[in-house]
Amino acid sequence: MKNNMTGDNKNVERFRQSLLAWYDKHRRVLPWRALSGVTPNPYHVWLSEIMLQQTTVSAVISYFLKFVDLWPTVHDLAAADSDSVMQNWAGLGYYARARNLHKCAKIISHDLGGVFPSNQDDLKKLPGVGDYTSAAITAIAFNKPANVVDGNVERVMARIFNVLEPVPSSKPHLKKLAEYMALGENERAGDYAQSLMDLGATICTPKSPKCLLCPVMEHCDGYKKGIPASLPARLKKKTKPQRHGYVYWITNKAGEVLIEKRGDKGMLGGTFGLPTSEWVDKTIKKPHLNINIDTMAETKVKVLHSFTHFDLHLDGMMGSMNKTKPPFDKDYFWVKMEELEKMGVPTLFKKAIRQFL
Ligand code: ADE
Repeated sequence: MKNNMTGDNKNVERFRQSLLAWYDKHRRVLPWRALSGVTPNPYHVWLSEIMLQQTTVSAVISYFLKFVDLWPTVHDLAAADSDSVMQNWAGLGYYARARNLHKCAKIISHDLGGVFPSNQDDLKKLPGVGDYTSAAITAIAFNKPANVVDGNVERVMARIFNVLEPVPSSKPHLKKLAEYMALGENERAGDYAQSLMDLGATICTPKSPKCLLCPVMEHCDGYKKGIPASLPARLKKKTKPQRHGYVYWITNKAGEVLIEKRGDKGMLGGTFGLPTSEWVDKTIKKPHLNINIDTMAETKVKVLHSFTHFDLHLDGMMGSMNKTKPPFDKDYFWVKMEELEKMGVPTLFKKAIRQFL
């Protein structure tokens, strides 16, 4: 790493001061972000950082506002009904986060008196809190130096230091560079972490970075070489595996729809939605629901939903049942049409319901 910052702390210090001065003028106003001079609320910082894992700021804002409105403190969230937490999370994806969020709230509320740990080691013991999130909470909630590295920060480092090695293999190196830049910032650790995020989100964007507006352009080797937009280099994406299955629209004589609460494990663990078959490779023939339905017919409904590691194709089947009693076991129940609209279901099921209706 040969750059005007290596071997000279003064330049690192100048980099941080330029970035912080820019942040003071251009920081984004975000609902979880404390205003300048106000002590951050660790509950807000933790909740937002869990929601922001793998998810954009614009997608998170309305969920964050809804959660703090429903559950203003970590004690309120701990006391919430877990189905309600899952349903209010519906649409945000990565549902293990919601299950861990609730577990973590209970630990903070019941075992730690509502006080969040203020160091990374203790934070990392909490469910759903890993390297990134513990660093973000340490820096943002407690203003202590920590190496907060997300995709934005990796991109900024790859450009500043003109790292040509592609991600993901360059990630450990990018993390070391970020650490080198961050760890001397003892006064404004939280602002420094957030200023890098804001720089990555608004100036040092993946495509067409706005280098002429960049407060740290003079330190940027990627800019000097004329290749910032091509960094970080990426290996060609592998094609995603394709999975297939069936989604069922099953009604009873009362006009109610059959809903399944999925088991706690797996991709959509703990969520509510239409019943589906197993999701399998195309080579396995017609997987079907393991409950008896009186009539069942194919439909034109086809749902495609992209998860991080595979694409899911579901064909819609429509069925009816004569019984109106909760029929099978506790994981299935009937829901009135009007209630279905109010129920929080993952986006996959929203797409299916829209088509069935
Ligand atoms: N992305 C992840 N954490 C963030 C935060 N605290 N502010 C803005 N963007 C973020």
